[in-house]
Parts: sequence; C-alpha cells; structure tokens
Amino acid sequence: MDTIGKLEAKRLEARQGGGQRRIDGQHARGKLTARERLELLLDPGSFEEFDMFVEHRCADFGMTEQKFPGDGVVTGWGTIDGRIVYVFAKDFTVFGGSLSQAHAQKVCKVQDMALRNGAPIIGLMDAGGARIQEGVDSLGGYAEIFQRNVLASGVIPQISVIMGPCAGGDVYSPAMTDFIFMVRDTSYMFVTGPDVVKTVTQEDVSAEQLGGASIHTTKSSIADGAYDNDVETLEQIRRLMDFLPANNREQAPLRPTWDIPDRIEISLDTLVPDNANKPYDMKELILKIADEGDFFEIQEHFAKNIITGFARIDGQSVGIVGNQPMVLAGCLDSDASRKAARFVRFCDCFNIPIVTLVDVPGFLPGTAQEYGGLIKHGAKLLFAYCEATVPKITIITRKAMGGAYVVMASKHLRGDLNFAWPTAGIAVMGAKGAVEIIFRNEIGSPEKIAARTEEYESQFLNPFVAANRGYIDEIIMPHSTRRRIALGLQRLRNKKLENPWKKHANIPL
Ligand code: HXC
Repeated sequence: MDTIGKLEAKRLEARQGGGQRRIDGQHARGKLTARERLELLLDPGSFEEFDMFVEHRCADFGMTEQKFPGDGVVTGWGTIDGRIVYVFAKDFTVFGGSLSQAHAQKVCKVQDMALRNGAPIIGLMDAGGARIQEGVDSLGGYAEIFQRNVLASGVIPQISVIMGPCAGGDVYSPAMTDFIFMVRDTSYMFVTGPDVVKTVTQEDVSAEQLGGASIHTTKSSIADGAYDNDVETLEQIRRLMDFLPANNREQAPLRPTWDIPDRIEISLDTLVPDNANKPYDMKELILKIADEGDFFEIQEHFAKNIITGFARIDGQSVGIVGNQPMVLAGCLDSDASRKAARFVRFCDCFNIPIVTLVDVPGFLPGTAQEYGGLIKHGAKLLFAYCEATVPKITIITRKAMGGAYVVMASKHLRGDLNFAWPTAGIAVMGAKGAVEIIFRNEIGSPEKIAARTEEYESQFLNPFVAANRGYIDEIIMPHSTRRRIALGLQRLRNKKLENPWKKHANIPL
C-alpha cells in the first residue's frame, strides 16, 4: 500500500470508533454516532478533525490490547451558518465515551483554541464519566477540563448537549457551561447512576426518573431545553448559535429580516383585559414584537411564571425576560428569580441587550418560599439586573408592584428606556392589601372599603405618577411597542457603561 493509501486506511479505521457492532448498538438505541452528529451540527463539509490518531496510554487491566484511534472523543472545528465553532463529541462506542488522560488532553486542546481565538465551543456528551481503568489520571483530566470551563466562562459561549447517558465528570463539565440541552428518552444526567443510588439509599429509581430530560427540564432546572431526537436537537443548537456573538468582545450578528421595525400591532391594544385579575399570555406579546415571530425559549418548562429567551428585533439579538400572568399571576418566586437571573447574566456577559416585559404583582408570599430562601434567590435577580451594563429596555404592561417593580429592570437600576402602557399600575401593593393596611381603623362598611379602594386605584394604579417623577420615560401605545423597542435598540447601540474594577462581584449564590 502506498503512503497516501496507508493514511486513508488509518483514517477509515479511526472513523469506525469502537467498531461496527457498537455502532449498530448506538443506532439501535435511536442515537447517532459522534461523527454523524457533527455532520448535522456543522455546515456541510466544514468539519476539520484534530487528533484523530491519539490513543490512550494505559497499560493496566489489559488495556494495551484495547486501543482505538481517537480514544472516545472526536474533536475539531467547523462552522455554523459560516461562523467558526469548536466542537468535541464523545464517542460512546469507545469505552462508553469515558475519559482517559489522552481523551482529556484532546478536549483541553480545543478548549484552549476556542478561548484563544474567541469562538464558541460546543460539547456533544454521551459518556460514562471517568475511565475506570485510568484512576487518578482520569480524575485529573476532568479537573483540567473544569478549570478551562471556568476560565472561558463569560469570554466565549459554551454549550453542552447531552445525547446519551452521562455520569460523573460528564455532568459536572456541562454544569459549568452556559446552556445544557438534552435529547428526550435517550439522554440522562446524574452524578451517580441508579445502581449506586440503590446501594447507598435503597431507592429504586430508573435512569429516566433519576436524570432524564423530563426531570432536568421541569424539576431540577439543570437543562435549558429538550428535543425529541438527535436530529432535532442539533438543528435547534444551530438555531441558538445564530443569536449569540462569537465572544464577549463582539456583538451578535445582525440578521437581515423582511419584518419592518415599525410594524404596528393593533391587536396589542386589547391584550390586557379590563379586569386586573384576569390573566393573558405574555408570549403573545413576545411573538408579536419579535422579528418574524421567532423566539428561542430558554427553560420553557421550568418556573413558567417567568419567560426567558432570545429573539431579534430589527435584526438585532435581544434577551427577553417577561413575567407570565398565566402562571402564579406572574409572581416572582425563588425558581423564577434564579432562572431569570442566570439568563440576564448570560446576556450581559455577551453584549445582548435585555428587553424586560413587566406584569408582576410582587414576590410570592408564604412559608414555602421564605424557608426556601426567597430573599437570597430574589436577590440574585436584583443583583443581575443591577450589575448588567448592556442596553436595558423595559415595558410595563400592567402590574409593577413593590420590590418586584424595582427588580424588573426599573429606571432606578440603570434602565435605559422605561416605557409603560396606559394600562400600567405602579405601586407598593395592590388596592386590596393597601386599603386594609392604611385604612385599618376606618374599615367597617363595605361602602367605605369600596370608596377607599377606588380612591387608591385612581391615585396610584396608573402609569402617570411614575411618569410624573421621570421613572417612566414615556407612556406608549401598546400597538407601537415593537417600533419603540427597535428605535431604542438602534439609538442605544453605542452605549458605554462600566462597573467599577473588581476581581469579581459576590452575587448571593
Ligand atoms: C471505562 C466504561 C465506563 C467507564 C462505560 N464503559 N463506562 N469503560 N470506564 N467509566 C464501557 C463499558 O465497559 C462498555 O464497554 C461500554 O462502555 C458501554 O457501557 P455499557 O455499560 O454496556 O452501556 P450502558 O448499559 O448503556 O450503560 C452506560 C452507563 C454505564 C450508564 C454510562 O456504563 C455506567 O454506569 N458506567 C459507569 C459510570 C460511572 O460510574 N463512571 C464514573 C463516574 S465518576 P464494551 O467494551 O462492552 O463496549 C467520575 C469522576 C469525575 O466521572 C469526577 C468529577 C467531579
């Protein structure tokens, strides 16, 4: 065989991973192989692989006889919509994708390159954690990866996609990246699997119940989204990448759109019902102001009382945070605060302006919330908004009460543009609670209560008091919301605001 032929043969062998039997096993479980996944994630023909011939160097437990070129991870770079991304994809067909020292060095190499060259990194995870045969070398390998995850945090976007059973180090590295997405029914994340759980706690639990997508998108909030299969998941990751800049020194790309920025939406004039206690769907507002109604939601199935996600307005990426009156009347609770705080911080790291849509009756009262640390969790969102220096545009559609008014990107927290709809009411609390407290001594007849309630409502439950103080820049027509935001984004493009120098802030974790 000639030299070129030899290279081709070696490449062919490497592409076989752990062999046809294991590839068939992977397919039989409804999963694609590492290389098939990369082909779908990246633009056709754009993938260039590194370290295809790296092998492990373990000599214990008969490992010298078991060597597979590439050693359980495929690494390299490619493009998504023409923009460079670095990738690594765990190959479950080689020792279950488990991490050897050599495997870790491959991952670290692309992490270093991504950071040095200012491009996002995407990890496709399908792996059984530390390579048991390698012991501490494997643990050290994870530590090297974690350290790089942290150094890259806030500098380049890091995305993790969970596409198979993931345990140990293969869940801790994703946990330190910006977003985690899972594939329904074929992916799991746990620190220790069902067998260990059974031994230690005697709990009988399936992999799905312990760490499936259904758990991590609704209960634990570890995952930011889940999709039905490998193909759909990878398509959605491509879509997400379009909203993000390459690094913290760049802006997200402007995308041309046929959707004119001053599009009027007359239906928004009747979105808020006359009855203040009647809910309406805040997502309707989001879809009507976004370019082409395109909204990439983050954590859709967790803490549904707040909505977070990416959209574009006049071609520019924005992070949208909106209270959802349909769930818990849009109250802020611990989960909603944590969810939105993390999202706001991501946007701020990566120069993505934040549009906040406010309809919030306050923080959720009760022992469950207080015992669960509402003060600390609520403070996370407050902290995140205070800290953010990206353009902040806020629209109050209806209620903005008490501490929640302050938290939701109010003027006082360096909001750049604070608009209110004519239906807005900004006060310390709703009329009922207020009348019960301030007119406690007078309350007796229902007529008196009604008169005081009416007095309070007409005096405070409108946007004019706040506008009178300059806390609201302008009371706008609901139908012109998109136009106002588009104009604001355009005019705030050169915003310069810096926080005082520090090592890092001490957010209430
Ligand atoms: C070496 C491993 C391995 C591992 C799996 N394999 N995990 N080899 N080290 N950690 C191998 C198997 O021997 C098998 O080889 C192949 O991968 C597929 O594994 P199966 O068990 O047949 O697959 P499946 O039934 O789908 O189960 C997948 C799994 C299970 C849930 C991941 O393999 C498992 O529980 N593995 C161990 C997980 C674990 O405890 N890891 C250590 C975590 S501690 P063949 O030759 O048959 O194909 C850790 C420390 C990091 O990660 C610390 C960070 C803080």
